[in-house]
Amino acid sequence: MPVPTSKVLSPADALDLLASYPARDGLSISDLHSSASGIGTYDDFLLLPGHIDFQATAVSTATRVTRNVVLPTPFMSSPMDTVTETEMAISMALMGGIGVIHHNQPAASQAAMVRAVKRHENGFITDPVCLTPDHVVADVLDIKERLGFCGIPITDTGALGGKLLGLVTRRDVQFRPPTTPLHEVMTTDLVTAPEGVTLSEAQHLLRENKKGKLPIVDSAFRLKSLLARSDLLKNQTYPMASKHPQTKQLYCAAAIGTRPADKERLALLVDAGLDIVVLDSSQGNSSFQIDMIKWVKATYPSLEVIAGNVVTREQAANLIAAGADALRIGMGSGSICITQEVMAVGRPQATAVYAVSEFASKFGVPTIADGGIGNVGHIAKALSLGAGAVMMGGLLAGTSEAPGEYFWHDGKRVKTYRGMGSLEAMEQRASSSTPAGKLTQTNGVGKSLKGPVENAATSRYFSESSAVKVAQGVSGDVQDKGSVKPFLQYLHAGLQHSMQDMGVKSVPDLRRGVDVGEVRFEKRTVNGVVEGGVHGLNSYTKRLFA
Ligand code: IMP
Repeated sequence: MPVPTSKVLSPADALDLLASYPARDGLSISDLHSSASGIGTYDDFLLLPGHIDFQATAVSTATRVTRNVVLPTPFMSSPMDTVTETEMAISMALMGGIGVIHHNQPAASQAAMVRAVKRHENGFITDPVCLTPDHVVADVLDIKERLGFCGIPITDTGALGGKLLGLVTRRDVQFRPPTTPLHEVMTTDLVTAPEGVTLSEAQHLLRENKKGKLPIVDSAFRLKSLLARSDLLKNQTYPMASKHPQTKQLYCAAAIGTRPADKERLALLVDAGLDIVVLDSSQGNSSFQIDMIKWVKATYPSLEVIAGNVVTREQAANLIAAGADALRIGMGSGSICITQEVMAVGRPQATAVYAVSEFASKFGVPTIADGGIGNVGHIAKALSLGAGAVMMGGLLAGTSEAPGEYFWHDGKRVKTYRGMGSLEAMEQRASSSTPAGKLTQTNGVGKSLKGPVENAATSRYFSESSAVKVAQGVSGDVQDKGSVKPFLQYLHAGLQHSMQDMGVKSVPDLRRGVDVGEVRFEKRTVNGVVEGGVHGLNSYTKRLFA
């Protein structure tokens, strides 16, 4: 008797058969969210592959991080005193992201860091440092040490708007006694451009004349602004840099608290050129923060305000109604965090990112997935859940641009990384350093600053008035990762490959695919996580990029 066989279909019918299934393979985002255990953490789900008909390098990672700021990459560094000061903020912006300078330091010191970032790269330098011919070589060397440059215009008043008399460059002061007056060394054979010249015309002049600086002057030869050759070179080296579209300066963000003194702090930061302020609180749904959002939006209408942190729709609604330009999501997911353990309050991060982003998107308010980002996959997952950007602490700590010195621990070269809710951060004072003795407080351009630290860590955790400080974070160390720049390049390339696997060419494409149910998800079991990791090897080395 013949064995019955099921009919084998023609390969040509594959697409028709597929279309006859009631739903696509895998789960839609809303099905994933409403599944018995919710979405959970980043490791509790995966994305299913889509269709590839483009190169990974064609994937755009550009993303909206606040109502009015779009960045080339979705990377933000945390406002933590072991993560973001001047060097990190400059590097983040040069590589297409943005750094948020921490506020566990005096306001003047934080403002100096913002200023150093904003000055790092310019279109026209509209407030150049000037000197008079009677200043001396030592004054130029001092500026070089503090601000990192020594190409300085010399005017009769020593200020912008004065009559241009010459320029001093590094070569003019090299090998000269410090007391030499500048009129003896300055260059007077100047190439200038007239006021009203366009940026591209001025850049062309600079390229053609092989000069280091191009002063822009009015008809009476009064100095109006300056263009620097080094900025042209940086444009070539960092094509992805995050810049303000008008000023062409690097974008810079900084954190403040919600106390009255933070209004004075913010005034200094805005004066230094701040683009985005982050209201830094572990639980953002407070009347302090709501009042602060309203005050900031009324006082500085063009300053973007990132409010938070939140993990629920209810928290988000209050901050959106108050005027937030973006929301920071996360409570208890940070690598140094013990909030969920101690306070019993928080939410698994993937669920929080989806719930808040889904709600905020209806108001055009972008979200930032903050904490718990441990690898490229987590970044891709956060974006797929609706976040506009990710904020990273632990992943960027340990790089050479993070504050603090390297030291050796158990044979490994490490740097301190600590939670802002750790007792160590809450007890920080200007004169003291961390228990490991590795942090120094600087103004971001290498000079130590004196003066009391208005402790920001205590206010972030509402601990100012408590006799007993309850820690919500730990202090530890992380291994040396080298420079953050190649690491960010790796994150960017990794994200492009991840999005290529999903079959999406851009962040808006991803958002649309998720919304219409084309980008599909799958729950992961505990065994699934084991299977998805390296297993069954005797030993291995895990090199992430080359
Ligand atoms: P990570 O990227 O997982 O290391 O998490 C960094 C994030 O943790 C920061 O951006 C903050 O939102 C959060 N965070 C910083 N310090 C603490 C803390 O002491 N306790 C809880 N969360 C913290």
